[in-house]
Amino acid sequence: MANRENLAARGQQKIEWIRRKMPVLQSISREWEAKKPLLGFTIGACLHISAKTANLARTLQDGGAQVVLCASNPLSTQEDVAAALNEIYGIKTFARRGEDRDSFYRNIHAVLEHRPQITIDDGADLVSTLHSQRPELLKNVLGGTEETTTGVIRLKAMAEDNALKYPIIAVNDAQTKHLFDNRYGTGQSALDGILRATNYLLAGSNFVVVGYGWCGRGIAARARGMGAKVTVVEVDPVRALEATMDGFMVCSLKEAAAKADFIVTATGNINVVDAKHLELLKDGAILCNAGHFNVEINLKALAEKSSSITTVKENIEEYKLHSGKKVFVIGEGRLVNLAAGEGHPAEVMDMSFANQALAVAWLIQEGKDLENRVYPVPEKLDKKIARLKLKSMGIQIDKMTAEQVKYLHSWQTGT
Ligand SMILES: NC(=O)c1ccc[n+]([C@@H]2O[C@H](COP(=O)([O-])OP(=O)(O)OC[C@H]3O[C@@H](n4cnc5c(N)ncnc54)[C@H](O)[C@@H]3O)[C@@H](O)[C@H]2O)c1
Repeated sequence: MANRENLAARGQQKIEWIRRKMPVLQSISREWEAKKPLLGFTIGACLHISAKTANLARTLQDGGAQVVLCASNPLSTQEDVAAALNEIYGIKTFARRGEDRDSFYRNIHAVLEHRPQITIDDGADLVSTLHSQRPELLKNVLGGTEETTTGVIRLKAMAEDNALKYPIIAVNDAQTKHLFDNRYGTGQSALDGILRATNYLLAGSNFVVVGYGWCGRGIAARARGMGAKVTVVEVDPVRALEATMDGFMVCSLKEAAAKADFIVTATGNINVVDAKHLELLKDGAILCNAGHFNVEINLKALAEKSSSITTVKENIEEYKLHSGKKVFVIGEGRLVNLAAGEGHPAEVMDMSFANQALAVAWLIQEGKDLENRVYPVPEKLDKKIARLKLKSMGIQIDKMTAEQVKYLHSWQTGT
């Protein structure tokens, strides 16, 4: 019992510590405490159960909503935060770190039992479970929001198949989300996870980033900043060119694999590190993933090529290949920044979750007239978040003069 109380108290400390660096969410909370724009609404949210998510849940609660949470990944839950949410903040949270697939989905069902009118998802598991297994609950739902690239891809595919039965706001696609969270957030926190797990030196290492999207760009930039020799692997010719001109080595994964000390995937795609690459890895290579699902490294093929799999350290498994070489995988190939670290820094989640909060309020105001498809976050909300963030940082920006506004909307003045 004493331990349980300590756990919740530790979680509360984490949540309050993180809140200090979430000024935009705090300002939304202050505005909502009086107005209660979410009053009477139940929000079911499937998110990484971290201190940042706890602060989003508090803001939604300040707006008058009842919030019920479950985890969006079996390995990302912080037990102390979950305990604090349940026992101190009165926010029902169904999540346990290291849960298996059955309990992961049981917790999603526990959230659905509360008949949410709004869903907040990170990867679209809540939405897809609701549609495929509890369709009778769909009539209660006004709309939903989606946090990540992979979730937006899945939900757009559902809309294309006419399978999506309520509107979704693609929070990931807001500028104040992916430009900062995916890039600087994943950039810092993926390296943090790798370092916490391994305690190895990045300087001088051969560090391979697979995928040069928003996450990959951040990881590559930060790894270079730590002195690693960074190689980028891409399938998109434009992004491959961009990586080249950003100063990175670019080549195929087959070419990169043989030298790699670290390989980090960030593609949102399946079997990116596949059987054909595993043969080429050098002894001691470290593999991890920063993309949403644990499908990017073909772990089944790796297991088949191994004579033993041993946990050699918290969050690190050693695969001993039949050739005698050893390959290490961090956090079971799940999001390395959450499996081996505490996820993104507060400052970027402040903006991501401000988007979530404002998108939920917007859905309540406008949702009735929306079609069952995926919508962007309205630009005015995106800009409002950027302004609030700049204000919290004490940064002033210039304003165009009336003459400049007029000029930029005219064609008459030329050479
Ligand atoms: N770790 C986190 O906390 C975190 C945060 C945000 C997003 N994500 C997830 O990270 C993944 C990437 O997100 P993003 O926003 O960078 O997406 P993105 O679409 O901007 O970038 C993905 C890149 O991967 C490349 N790619 C696809 N298949 C490839 C392959 N076989 N080999 C090499 N490159 C390949 C694409 O061409 C693209 O450039 C998604 O699953 C997303 O949900 C994770």
